Amino acid sequence: MNIRPEPLVARFFEHFGRPPEHVVCSPGRVNLIGEHTDYNNGFVLPMAIDRAVWLAAAGRDEGRVRVHSLDRRESAEFVLTDLRRENAGWIEYFKGVAWCLSAEGTPAGNGPDFCGGTPDEPNAPAPAARMGPSPSPALRGFDAVLTGDVPIGAGLSSSAALEMAAARLFAALGDRPWDPVPAALVCQKAENRWVGVNCGIMDQLACGCGRAGHALRIDCRSLEMEHVPLPADTAVVVLDTATRRGLADSAYNERRRQCHTAAEQLGVPPLRDADLAQLERLADTLDATACRRARHVISENARTLEAVDVMRRGNAAALGVLMNHSHASLRDDYEVSSPELDAMAACARAHPACFGARMTGAGFGGCAIALIDAAAAKPFTAATAAAYRRETGLDPAIYVTRPSAGTEAARVADR
Ligand code: GLA
Repeated sequence: MNIRPEPLVARFFEHFGRPPEHVVCSPGRVNLIGEHTDYNNGFVLPMAIDRAVWLAAAGRDEGRVRVHSLDRRESAEFVLTDLRRENAGWIEYFKGVAWCLSAEGTPAGNGPDFCGGTPDEPNAPAPAARMGPSPSPALRGFDAVLTGDVPIGAGLSSSAALEMAAARLFAALGDRPWDPVPAALVCQKAENRWVGVNCGIMDQLACGCGRAGHALRIDCRSLEMEHVPLPADTAVVVLDTATRRGLADSAYNERRRQCHTAAEQLGVPPLRDADLAQLERLADTLDATACRRARHVISENARTLEAVDVMRRGNAAALGVLMNHSHASLRDDYEVSSPELDAMAACARAHPACFGARMTGAGFGGCAIALIDAAAAKPFTAATAAAYRRETGLDPAIYVTRPSAGTEAARVADR
């Protein structure tokens, strides 16, 4: 397990005066390629990383949830039978997942469901601010301590990691079988309808289904997945620009709408079903912005499939070129990069150990990634950090990350 439970177990004991029953570890993710394609039913190639959210928890007999954040040194609590949306920060992710697993949240209206259910329409209205009473008799309350090292708002999916951790914990406490795919759909719904961010399915699946040493090819229409090993002797480096931009108030939802419009104008339900020839034929009749947005999505889907292909053959150089093209398309056609992300990608590419670099996640700030020759990780990180500092005056965080296992739980007694 990708977890350091001992200090967490001790901190739980200190805080709640009893031993925890379960520990949960839920990783963040980077996306190698396939950006802004998930909500167009396309292809993505993320990997879970070795930074995660951890919980240590023990069940409670009544339906109260109490969580203490060790990093923020603050506690929050709520009652499962009276869920209210208060925009109160990190605790809302627990409430949102509880709501989606509750009688009101599940499509069939029949209680917690880790093994079925359908995704919501992405633009479905959010639930009313006060959801109670929403009896969820089969969900157990709990006490938990929470910690993590996925930076927040950096595009490494700290939110999805936390949602999947909460879902995993509810499953463990209820002694229910765990399947990360329906759980990811539940967590996506929590993010869409409780937190109010209209994300696609990539992050939750990447966090839930990661495998050490591998990236994950996801077909976001069928949810078919394949683990693809990273090319030998390469490393993925996180290049944190030290800039942040919240997803909720970003242009993310606007991009989604633009894709929808472009798909309608092209006569294909999702953009995944369009090709470049079709786009060229209809280019004159399309709004110029819609046309560029569509060109990104169509070309990015093709690049992602090609990336899987070259990865299977262990061709790091070809993968790097595709990553560079992806960045250019996100910058020029999709317009979700930022001066800092562009500067970071350029600084990384200037080093001879770099095969390719691009922004990762939604964009507008946060992190880029680079694929490099693993043997040169030290000089690469030092040179890229120095170059970026010179270029922007900002102090970046640059570190090698390893493809890791997805969300997991262990009983404390078993350890
Ligand atoms: C965010 C969303 C994902 C995906 C990416 C862009 O991370 O949560 O669903 O759309 O942006 O690829």
